Amino acid sequence: METIYESLRKKGISRRDFLKLSAVITASLGLSPEMFSDVVYALETKPKPVVIWLEFQDCAGCSESFIRSTSIFPSEVLLDLISLEYHETLMAPAGEYAEQSKLEAINKYKGKYILVVEGAITPTDGGIYCTVAGKSNYELLKEAAEYAAAIIAVGSCACWSGIPGAQPNPTGAIPVYKALKEKTVINVPGCPPIGDVIVGVIANYLILGKIPELDELGRPKVFYGQTIHDRCYRRPFYNSGKFAKSFDDETAKEGMCLYKLGCKGPVTRNACSTIRWNGGISFPIQSGHPCFGCAEPDFWDRGHIYTPLSVVSTGISSKEIITAATIGAAAGVAVKWLGKIGKGEKND
Ligand code: SF4
Ligand code: F3S
Repeated sequence: METIYESLRKKGISRRDFLKLSAVITASLGLSPEMFSDVVYALETKPKPVVIWLEFQDCAGCSESFIRSTSIFPSEVLLDLISLEYHETLMAPAGEYAEQSKLEAINKYKGKYILVVEGAITPTDGGIYCTVAGKSNYELLKEAAEYAAAIIAVGSCACWSGIPGAQPNPTGAIPVYKALKEKTVINVPGCPPIGDVIVGVIANYLILGKIPELDELGRPKVFYGQTIHDRCYRRPFYNSGKFAKSFDDETAKEGMCLYKLGCKGPVTRNACSTIRWNGGISFPIQSGHPCFGCAEPDFWDRGHIYTPLSVVSTGISSKEIITAATIGAAAGVAVKWLGKIGKGEKND
């Protein structure tokens, strides 16, 4: 199989642009500048990573986000960086030909392909609530996971069971890591995740040849090591106790902190306030909307989106929020909110 460099050269990308891309990849993966030559070497010599992408209980929003990756890799370059062997939404074959090509890819690239899973799994009642080509989602997941070199759960449905798993969870949806207890699953949550983050995790595996360092919930630290709040540009308002009181008054126009309007940024780990969305143009808070914690487990079942964090977590009044909204208080609230989360707790 051709290398990424060969593939890019065929597309007419110059050596200069290739080196620029290598520099962007080095920086975006949080690697030190000394790693630049290793990145160049990997892109020049390693074959394009084979990716098999399965979709189960999902809305395809993560696929949409993936193909709109722009800031790390323009979308036209993206498909030269990986060999996407199976993806229901993006591939040309359909029906039995599609299924056949997937099985051929699994056999041909045994132990070498990256399996990406989008959507929650439902083993309930023999998995009949989500089937593809007559096979249950659970069966399809096991079949593809058996020989995968790495497994990446993309989106909050695959990572935590997301909206399919929201109460009352009628199909008994579970996240990928619970369906594959014997495997290591890299969790890339978000509803959807940032496209550049999805591509960055795949690129990280390609270049370093191993899964990235993960936190206690299986998330790559390079992208999920900080909260939205840690790097939010509205943080100075938060620190000085200046909060927007509604979405359409002077406090909102002045861009004050959205904590009182329900922002879950202090307890949400994601790269929105650093990488941002749509090629780094903006993210929810920059557009005037609070973060509602879409990358965290159970976000859908944690009370109203616009209910302030301290009320959701502690039941204290909105008047108290103003006095409580200091860094220390928020940290305490975060501990209580996050205390309900834990890998292995959900749906057990
Ligand atoms: Fe930004 Fe939300 Fe933190 Fe305010 S509470 S500084 S809007 S992340
Ligand atoms: Fe989701 Fe919050 Fe980012 S709602 S998209 S994690 S700002």
